[in-house]
Amino acid sequence: MARLRALLTLAVLALVAGGSCAFEFEEATIDSILVGFKNGSLTSTALVRYYLDQITRLNPLLHAVIEVNPDALRQAARADAERSTGHHRAAAGLHGVPLLIKDLIATRDRLNTTAGSLALLGSVVRRDAGVVARLRRAGAVVLGKANLPEWANFRSARSAGGLHGWSARGGQSRDPYVLSANLCGSSTGSSIAAAANMAAVTLRTETMDSILCPASLNSVVGIKPTVGLTSRSGVIPFSSRQDTVGPICRTVADAVHVLDAIVGYDALDAAATKAASKYIPQDGYKQFLKIEGLNGKRIGIPNGFFDFTDGTERQIVYKQHLNTMKQYGATVIENLDIANLSGILNITGSGLLNVLTAEFKFNLNNYLSNLSYSPVHSLAEIIAFNNAHPVEEKLKEYGQQVLLMSENTTGIGTQERTIIRQLEELSENGIVKLMTEHRLDAILTPDSEATPLIAYIGLPGIVVPAGYDEQGVPFSICYSGLKGYEPRLIEMAYAFEQTTKARKPPMFKN
Ligand SMILES: *[C@@H]1O[C@H](CO)[C@@H](O)[C@H](O)[C@H]1NC(C)=O
Ligand SMILES: *[C@@H]1O[C@H](CO)[C@@H](O)[C@H](O)[C@H]1NC(C)=O
Ligand SMILES: *[C@@H]1O[C@H](CO)[C@@H](O)[C@H](O)[C@H]1NC(C)=O
Ligand SMILES: *[C@@H]1O[C@H](CO)[C@@H](O)[C@H](O)[C@H]1NC(C)=O
Ligand SMILES: *[C@@H]1O[C@H](CO)[C@@H](O)[C@H](O)[C@H]1NC(C)=O
Ligand SMILES: *[C@@H]1O[C@H](CO)[C@@H](O)[C@H](O)[C@H]1NC(C)=O
Repeated sequence: MARLRALLTLAVLALVAGGSCAFEFEEATIDSILVGFKNGSLTSTALVRYYLDQITRLNPLLHAVIEVNPDALRQAARADAERSTGHHRAAAGLHGVPLLIKDLIATRDRLNTTAGSLALLGSVVRRDAGVVARLRRAGAVVLGKANLPEWANFRSARSAGGLHGWSARGGQSRDPYVLSANLCGSSTGSSIAAAANMAAVTLRTETMDSILCPASLNSVVGIKPTVGLTSRSGVIPFSSRQDTVGPICRTVADAVHVLDAIVGYDALDAAATKAASKYIPQDGYKQFLKIEGLNGKRIGIPNGFFDFTDGTERQIVYKQHLNTMKQYGATVIENLDIANLSGILNITGSGLLNVLTAEFKFNLNNYLSNLSYSPVHSLAEIIAFNNAHPVEEKLKEYGQQVLLMSENTTGIGTQERTIIRQLEELSENGIVKLMTEHRLDAILTPDSEATPLIAYIGLPGIVVPAGYDEQGVPFSICYSGLKGYEPRLIEMAYAFEQTTKARKPPMFKN
């Protein structure tokens, strides 16, 4: 019997080594991974080893990963054992699939949760973040934490630290397509890791642009869910009005697999997750991966976004894409005006920055006070830590202006509430009114430029790879909509992806 088993094993190994039936690791999708598990060409252990090798090989250049989970291989071995013994857990949606998590999302394991900051190194969380608990129940293997240059971003103006893609702990991130390319506001680890096949799927958070922007610049799919669809408990916060957690993956289908696993009510983020739970379709989101998803959709093109010079790659490709959408049955309505667009885009003039800094202080101090251990207990102590470690925290290069502004605030008072009402009005009179009047299923914009249109009142958006410019820098297209529009946004995004097949693996150009 033992001999027979050994012979069988050899035969299987020979088959696998034979080539045609070997699992294709590069650009693997969740669907192909699950088929591989089933037909015996793949184990979670082999998959985790592949991604760990990719991380070892690429991270010195890309700095996408801040920490690797020392228990990842053990979790993979457990998933393999459960699968081979027919354990019921093996039927869970992401069973054995390796996942990378943004370093802003708490995990109660040997991984640190630090927002890329040295000040939070060694802090201990009480429990997994709500979304991580769900992912563990779905059987995902936690591969590690993704780098987060955003903390630097908080420290200076929106355009400073983040543009450099740097964090004190994780180092300098790079775009795998064009290494010298400008990184956007908060371009970071998760999207780079997804693009460069350093993880099967990744998870990120967005307050304003942190999913949509890096996903679009790294030629991957990012879903920014309606605020409250996914729990923010255990996520290092910025603004509870705007923060949301979503997937960044190589394909729309992969992102939807992850979305299915993370949405839902959480008692530790009760108000928001309860309010949004009505949007969650009973049979999940996978049913909306429809090849004919563009057919019959009404897509609005607002003025002021697609003004690219004639003859440039972007202008030509975007025009082709609009024609493709029409060809596949969408009604494309151009020349639409969003009321007070300049007021919406002006984040200082609208008062947004004042409100965000007030919310940040309050929410961060609350997060810190909920830790079971932390070297720092308040925003004031983080500021003091940075002052005491100016070299490591690159204080001279980036300063900590936003932290100082935030510390200077006194919470959400009358003035802040007035501003929040004005921001809501800007959005209601802007995107909401336009979409309602024209009965639109989505507004289409390039890259992540829709961000201010949808951020203030927690609307959803999906970016999908659309092409590459003359230098090889990726660009993308974004479908955004009203609260709970995920099903139709997924239909359009999936059909667009399947008909255009724009994504190519990264080229690592200089
Ligand atoms: C198993 O499925 C994968 C797709 O996930 C495929 O690449 C491989 O060839 C299949 N192997 C066998 C032995 O059928
Ligand atoms: C977490 O941080 C500590 C330092 O406080 C370090 O020793 C440990 O290796 C880190 N964990 C991982 C998984 O890297
Ligand atoms: C446009 O928005 C700005 C806020 O950025 C606001 O101050 C202004 O009153 C708005 N204008 C109109 C006409 O609504
Ligand atoms: C933004 O609003 C402020 C205050 O209303 C104004 O001073 C500034 O010129 C505006 N910026 C732009 C780019 O319109
Ligand atoms: C901890 O978190 C909960 C939920 O966000 C919050 O209600 C509470 O005020 C926080 N602070 C402490 C000290 O428990
Ligand atoms: C803090 O507030 C005071 C008084 O309102 C102001 O003078 C000072 O410039 C503010 N500092 C920062 C860093 O915003």
